Amino acid sequence: MANPGVCVRRETSDDVERLSAFAAAIFPSVGPPDADPGDLADYIAAEPTAGCFRILIENPNAILFVAEMADQIFGYAAALRPSPHPQIEVMAAELLKFCVGPAYHGRGVTDELMHQAPVSLERDCLTVVWLSVYCENRRAIASYKKRGFHFVAQVNSRCGICEH
Ligand SMILES: CC(C)(COP(=O)(O)OP(=O)(O)OC[C@H]1O[C@@H](n2cnc3c(N)ncnc32)[C@H](O)[C@@H]1OP(=O)(O)O)[C@@H](O)C(=O)NCCC(=O)NCCS
Repeated sequence: MANPGVCVRRETSDDVERLSAFAAAIFPSVGPPDADPGDLADYIAAEPTAGCFRILIENPNAILFVAEMADQIFGYAAALRPSPHPQIEVMAAELLKFCVGPAYHGRGVTDELMHQAPVSLERDCLTVVWLSVYCENRRAIASYKKRGFHFVAQVNSRCGICEH
């Protein structure tokens, strides 16, 4: 589904504060429903910080995309290239972060972000992409399966790995 007005572009260092604010605002509504509020607050304080996004942007092996409309960020994706995995024989890339604001779930933004990352990875001849996702994250798993990922292995009681 095309989204008029939606722009998916490479992230720049000017985006890190807005990205961090976006992630902190939506994580409580997209995180595990049974998450302990204290744990969630600790995670938000430590993980989607401007500093973390800046480190990713400065990593020459990382690519990041943001989805925005009318200057508002409502999604982002980050991939590492290459990122070898012991259970994947060819050199692969890893989809490290993928997040779309709840108001845009099921509205094609995921397709637009998903489209950009593989196109860029294929330029590096990385045709396999893997990711980790919590087993409880049913919506994300359904979304990834719909887009061609399949289950490879369960790495512990909470995570699975998919290969594209
Ligand atoms: C993961 C994410 C990017 C997927 O994007 P999306 O726009 O929601 O994806 P889609 O709507 O295209 O696909 C979701 C599918 O899950 C299905 N679904 C929704 N809730 C579900 C549930 N509880 N159990 C199983 N399937 C579910 C939907 O029906 C849809 O399938 P359909 O199109 O065949 O009906 C988005 O939900 C998101 O950003 N979530 C929060 C962050 C996150 O969890 N990121 C992934 C980290 S690995």
